[in-house]
Amino acid sequence: MSSSYAPMSFHLETERLILRPWAASDADGLYALHTERGGDPASLERAREVIARGLSTAAATGIALLPICRRAEGDFIGYCGLTVGRSTLDEPEIAYELFQRVHGNGYATEAARAVLDAAVATGRRRLWSTVRTWNTASFRVLDKIGFERDHVTADDRGELVWLTRTLP
Ligand SMILES: CC(C)(COP(=O)(O)OP(=O)(O)OC[C@H]1O[C@@H](n2cnc3c(N)ncnc32)[C@H](O)[C@@H]1OP(=O)(O)O)[C@@H](O)C(=O)NCCC(=O)NCCS
Repeated sequence: MSSSYAPMSFHLETERLILRPWAASDADGLYALHTERGGDPASLERAREVIARGLSTAAATGIALLPICRRAEGDFIGYCGLTVGRSTLDEPEIAYELFQRVHGNGYATEAARAVLDAAVATGRRRLWSTVRTWNTASFRVLDKIGFERDHVTADDRGELVWLTRTLP
């Protein structure tokens, strides 16, 4: 997969957070996040596979979902970044997932702002996000970083709201 855009920076820093490339040592944390999420059965092996696939996808596409660590505590609290997802490499999706214990502290918004800036630096002109109708927290994060609802589609899991933001 190739793109006419510059590769995204895989090292982002904010006031409270550091986003950096995945390391093998993140597998335990990602496994815990998968376990908390429920759904597909989580395993340490699957977390390792997701990390390995993420690294090769990042190398091939120049975009990535990056682990988020808190500067003060030094702990892994989730991930945020760009992914093709349901969209395209030219107009990728912004995505994020954090442990419940850290929700409501503005971390997703802070990480997403840094990812937005990183997307601008690649030369991209538009981002997307797809959100389930019940996901109030995700809509609020996207609202805070300037996304607007565009259209709604449906799949076997129900309705999906597509939000978009043009980049300067
Ligand atoms: C979506 C998610 C990443 C948000 O993380 P977060 O760090 O708590 O987000 P922030 O603190 O930056 O912002 C959340 C906002 O939603 C608001 N919010 C959260 N739950 C809410 C609810 N049930 N009703 C109304 N507002 C709510 C918060 O008050 C906050 O808004 P505010 O700053 O105006 O007070 C987190 O909930 C998560 O990991 N969810 C599971 C994974 C997921 O759904 N990912 C997105 C898929 S599209």
